Amino acid sequence: MTHPMFRPRRLREKQLLRKMVRETALAVDDLVYPLFAVHGRGVREPIPSMPGQFRLAIDELVKEAKDAAGMGIPAVLLFGLPAEKDPRGSEAYADDGIVQQAVRAVKDRVPDLLVVTDVCLCQYTSHGHCGIVEDGAVRNDPTLELLARVAVSHAEAGADMVAPSDMMDGRVGAIREALDEASYTDTPIMAYSAKYASSFYGPFRDAAGSAPQFGDRRSYQLDPANALEAMREIALDIDEGADIVMVKPALPYLDIISRAKAEFGLPLAAYSVSGEYAMIRAAGRLGWLDEERAMLEALTAIRRAGADLVITYFAKDAARLMERGTAR
Ligand code: PBG
Repeated sequence: MTHPMFRPRRLREKQLLRKMVRETALAVDDLVYPLFAVHGRGVREPIPSMPGQFRLAIDELVKEAKDAAGMGIPAVLLFGLPAEKDPRGSEAYADDGIVQQAVRAVKDRVPDLLVVTDVCLCQYTSHGHCGIVEDGAVRNDPTLELLARVAVSHAEAGADMVAPSDMMDGRVGAIREALDEASYTDTPIMAYSAKYASSFYGPFRDAAGSAPQFGDRRSYQLDPANALEAMREIALDIDEGADIVMVKPALPYLDIISRAKAEFGLPLAAYSVSGEYAMIRAAGRLGWLDEERAMLEALTAIRRAGADLVITYFAKDAARLMERGTAR
């Protein structure tokens, strides 16, 4: 045996020392909690493929937002389910659209909570695609104008930040320009920059009724096999004026998170998507793993990879555990 011998276990023996040398801290300040708004009153409809998550009428959504704020969660990310869908997704940019109403209600009743809005058309279009469809194809440039209208309508309703998730080319620039023209120069854009064409969005599409009615999203979302392309997408979004860039999903793409953090100086968000949530919940419910520990481990790993913000359906559960001090 060589002497002196380096024994890494010396630092692992005692809980207090482990805590002192821990490299990554998970904090409630880093979490964003996604919520689904529906029309109606008093609606709190469970989402079958996302146990613990609900489609919420605005009165219920406000309660949920208040609850989250009370736990120290700084931000919610709002999605909406419209009353009616049409080919141009009109409710997405209507003054009295479901998200616009939800933003107003939350800003009014829970003013200290940051309200971020998802800017996209897929929940609102009858064909379920994120852009305008012509001759069976998703058209890029005609979509930009609509996305810009969505973003401005959210800002008008009082959104603190807008988050385009459509993956059309040039949309960050178009949205920035439209916001500036409407005097929302101070409204930041969190761009879903490296958004992959992922099967892990399955439960979300159930929740939001946003599955494409024909084809898939591979003509606009990234190929899961590509990393360099993700870096190009992020660079473009930064160039066009993104304030925060995002990688999505999170767990299967930790390498992309890590690379993006190393290559770009901007705050980086990671979206731990519905399928990641569903997997951990399901295995937990079956007793196949310890759900609380798996959740905290996954969130910590996403932070360790380089994400500054983590968007997660586990936000409240994680906040609760951190408060109890179980999160070690
Ligand atoms: C809308 C959008 C999607 C998600 C966030 N915004 C669905 C999609 O692109 O199909 C997925 C979120 C999740 O799975 O949790 N474009």
